[in-house]
Amino acid sequence: MNINSPPPTGLDAHRARATPIRELGSSERSLFLKHLLSLETEDRYLRFGSPLSDAAIGAYVDRIDFRTDTVFGVFDDRLKLAAAGHFAPIPKSTALEAKTLRSAEFGLSVASDARGRGLGTALFLRASSHARNLGVSSLFMHCLSENRAMIRIARRAGMEIEQSRGEADAYLSLEPGTVATAIEEGVQRQIALFDFAVKRQMLLAFKAFKAVAAGA
Ligand SMILES: CC(C)(COP(=O)(O)OP(=O)(O)OC[C@H]1O[C@@H](n2cnc3c(N)ncnc32)[C@H](O)[C@@H]1OP(=O)(O)O)[C@@H](O)C(=O)NCCC(=O)NCCS
Repeated sequence: MNINSPPPTGLDAHRARATPIRELGSSERSLFLKHLLSLETEDRYLRFGSPLSDAAIGAYVDRIDFRTDTVFGVFDDRLKLAAAGHFAPIPKSTALEAKTLRSAEFGLSVASDARGRGLGTALFLRASSHARNLGVSSLFMHCLSENRAMIRIARRAGMEIEQSRGEADAYLSLEPGTVATAIEEGVQRQIALFDFAVKRQMLLAFKAFKAVAAGA
């Protein structure tokens, strides 16, 4: 286990902080569903470990408990999800486990036309700091060994990767959150809300302009 891996520094951390990432509410379940359904078969395979059908993806989204889990989203200018990640604390099943520190799983996906711009990295870093602020000490990701982009993100974050038979389990040991990390996440939340509000206003203004232009 890679204990207390250092927080990411440099360009990634700056880029991640600058990316508005909003937490979705349960009423926005359908947005997340739409994003996942837009993934091609190969991407579904990479995201879920098998090429899930539309119905199976629907069932997965239906099962998300927004009281315990967090769905993070990056919105494009049309308020479509360009990227999204599901953060899920792993329930403790035994008394022994209950004594250990908490762990959580994270899965993410970026729309094919938005890749290579750091959104995957930004979502991952945001999930890591969210985990720290919740007192989660270990973040887990399941991915396939062939998933070079995801393995790259995991390695850069200092995750320990265990590979076997084409599958890879990646673990990141986290230091407890601090006042500074809590404030930083709070600021990021506010920035994301502001970004979303501005994009919504711009979209409404554009639609109103188009309607006027069409009637003229
Ligand atoms: C994996 C995924 C989330 C990456 O998203 P992204 O926004 O393109 O990622 P980033 O732009 O942050 O790039 C991450 C790194 O991977 C590298 N990378 C991207 N595509 C790559 C590829 N095909 N081969 C090797 N490296 C690649 C990037 O260069 C970057 O490294 P760098 O920062 O050193 O330049 C995205 O490809 C995806 O949604 N795939 C389908 C679903 C999936 O695999 N989910 C992960 C499993 S839960």
